[in-house]
Amino acid sequence: MTQRSAHVLLVDDDEAMREALAVLIESWGYRVSTAGDGVVARSEITRASPDVIITDVVLPGMSGLDLLEELERDGVTTPIILITAHGTVGWAVDAMKRGAMDFLTKPVDHDHLKALVERAVEEIELRGSTLDLQRQLEEGRLGHLVGRSAAMAEVFEAVRLLAQKQTSAIILGESGVGKEVVARTIHDLSRRADGPFLAVNTAAIPEGLIESEIFGHEKGAFNGAAQARPGCFEQADGGTLLLDEIGDMPLTLQPRLLRVLEEGRSRRLGGSREIEFDVRVIAATNRDMDELLEERVLREDLFYRLNVFTVTVPPLRDHPEDIALLGQHFIGRFNEKHETDIKGLRPETLELLEAYDWPGNVRELRNVIERATILAQKSWILPSHVPGHLRNDGARVKKVVLPVGTTAAEAERRLIIETLAAVGGNKTEAARHLGVDPKTIYNKLKAYEAAE
Ligand SMILES: Nc1ncnc2c1ncn2[C@@H]1O[C@H](COP(=O)(O)OP(=O)(O)OP(=O)(O)O)[C@@H](O)[C@H]1O
Ligand SMILES: [Mg+2]
Repeated sequence: MTQRSAHVLLVDDDEAMREALAVLIESWGYRVSTAGDGVVARSEITRASPDVIITDVVLPGMSGLDLLEELERDGVTTPIILITAHGTVGWAVDAMKRGAMDFLTKPVDHDHLKALVERAVEEIELRGSTLDLQRQLEEGRLGHLVGRSAAMAEVFEAVRLLAQKQTSAIILGESGVGKEVVARTIHDLSRRADGPFLAVNTAAIPEGLIESEIFGHEKGAFNGAAQARPGCFEQADGGTLLLDEIGDMPLTLQPRLLRVLEEGRSRRLGGSREIEFDVRVIAATNRDMDELLEERVLREDLFYRLNVFTVTVPPLRDHPEDIALLGQHFIGRFNEKHETDIKGLRPETLELLEAYDWPGNVRELRNVIERATILAQKSWILPSHVPGHLRNDGARVKKVVLPVGTTAAEAERRLIIETLAAVGGNKTEAARHLGVDPKTIYNKLKAYEAAE
């Protein structure tokens, strides 16, 4: 709901006063309905559930305070603004105790009333989004982020906090942990959500083009600049700019970047005009921040300007308890994309995934699930649908126990068979694992079969 469309119910027995206020409140862009007494008001509240109620305290039949009391009893939480000619502290305290949002005395100060209505609308909007966030958190998601572990709860908390603020921030974490998703979620939950979200990956741009990519250029600024091009700050105006791989930002550009960040103004290459912008900047890196500073890859002053707040996204191996939820999330997405009908991960598959150490983090998990979805097509994802190296990790921890007295030939046979079982019967994988030629495995197996 936007402030524009909020519905205000105005309750007053004085018709002239009521009409005058209704016209006024409508002129602020709200929808207004009116009631002349508490009983009519009560039925209008049930019928139309207005967003804000403004009521005179003294009404025929049922007073404003009675109305408050009834609404409280019925669990109606609509913000109520009371108006009275008897503006005493006693009345005010009583009304506030019964849940009124605020109190106004006659003659009504228009600016004051306007501010109160605005606050009431903001409050219900906030209530709505808080409830929504709460529900999302319980479901283990926040924006585009999925997770229910304590480690991810900390990230969620930081994201929510940053969404309410305008400060810059640095997001740290290994490759594939979800740094970009974190930045995007901060943007989507912030008041900039309607503005653009732009991610600029310095590592992906040829060194010679980075400057023009970031600051933009005017036509003819350099050889090949046939067209003028806005810089990333201009493009992200009113929104959020993610400076990805900040560790790859050329050192020579960093002082200029710092100046632009501090002044909120930038000039295109070859341009003379200063262009103002309103952008929240978030930087990310998968490198160790201390190292970047020590090796002087990142200037300290730029670091301090960006680092108002740091969010560290944990590697997946530190929160394997989220794998089930993440897996289900990706299965849902890939079922749609590939028109498959996968129900979920079989427990033994989940066990494998949880035992693996995920050097590629959530991105790797996502790829593993996509591949498995395509392989399995329907019903469940089995261990045989995940890549061999995931199963090998399990094989490494699985033990073969041999009683003393076992012959060397028997020990070899048991080792080969157990290894094969652990890698899902893949002879090449088993051979790699045992450090022998796959041919050796084939021959041995043939010999075992012949001996049976
Ligand atoms: N918590 C999460 N919930 C849902 N999806 C996630 C989560 N974390 C990561 N992903 C998914 O994993 C993939 C990689 O995430 P992302 O690109 O944000 O990682 P990154 O940390 O920026 O990696 P890099 O350092 O390589 O740039 C994306 O497809 C993203 O949607
Ligand atoms: Mg990234």
